[in-house]
Amino acid sequence: MSYQIELTTRDGQAFGFACEPGQDVLSAAAAADITLPSQCRRGSCGACHATVTEGAYTLGDHSADALPSGDPQAVLLCRTRPSADLRVAAPYDGTKVLLQPVAARAARIAALETIADGTRRLELLLDADDTSGSAAEFEAGQFAELELPEGGVKRPFSLANTSNWEGRLEFLIRLRPQGKFSAYLRERAQPGDVLTVHGPQGGFGLIADSLRPRWFVAGGTGLAPVLSMLRRMAEFGEINDARLFYGVNRESELFLLDELDALRAALPQLHVELCVRDAGDGWQGSHSTPVDALAAALAEGGAAPDLYVCGPPAMVSAAQAVAARARVPSTQFVSERFTV
Ligand code: FES
Repeated sequence: MSYQIELTTRDGQAFGFACEPGQDVLSAAAAADITLPSQCRRGSCGACHATVTEGAYTLGDHSADALPSGDPQAVLLCRTRPSADLRVAAPYDGTKVLLQPVAARAARIAALETIADGTRRLELLLDADDTSGSAAEFEAGQFAELELPEGGVKRPFSLANTSNWEGRLEFLIRLRPQGKFSAYLRERAQPGDVLTVHGPQGGFGLIADSLRPRWFVAGGTGLAPVLSMLRRMAEFGEINDARLFYGVNRESELFLLDELDALRAALPQLHVELCVRDAGDGWQGSHSTPVDALAAALAEGGAAPDLYVCGPPAMVSAAQAVAARARVPSTQFVSERFTV
């Protein structure tokens, strides 16, 4: 006997599917050709989190960091095995749910440049295919998994640009000393190399119908999905008040400051606070972390903003604690954690 799962998205779209005994909810959805946002599929990234509003289940091994705090019914769908029919509330809109497997498309390296200490900007151009032509279609804030030309190595990276007809995909990638993908970018990558792009994927993104202020907190290359969301706001002329708290450890790690200036010109309501934790004496900006800057801004009072947070797990957890203390409703806290 299977269990019936009813999943409702933030904007009220309902998806129903069966889950076999012993099967996790994420796999059951995939078996029904429903692709829900996920990333690691092993309980560590938090990308598949949702809230069970009715029904019984067991939650398997997972990282404590991956579950949002303050919601006793929060689950990770990749680790949730029902023991009764379930009703599940998802923290993303229906546009993030695919009624097909994640697409895989070939793309060529169009540009690769160093933009800061240890950080590369990678630009890909999708090859045309029968379904999408050459268009790159995705929601601001989503990610894609990139697979190396020789296969076998696949890593998730957030998209920094917005949907476009030319098939352009932009990624900001922090090089890791031991990473296989990093070694490829550092040593072998050449314009014209063909990578496989698995995506778009993920539920991180703007709460579309919200008129509340939008505050963004980005650590390092966590700026990539935030740039995508700000660029989308600029393209659509959205007028929500906006603040960006962008932080790195050293000044040499800052990047794309000219792009932030361009966004400030396109979005006059955008206020940007640059935070460098270990800055030199000449640094004019904040010496705090972006989470400290967020805490100080929330302490000023006013309407609770929607919060969009992307960065290392510890930074996201700290931002979540700050938001909870300031009584920002959990439905207004949207986040994505780096996975290593
Ligand atoms: S996909 Fe479930 S925790 Fe990462």
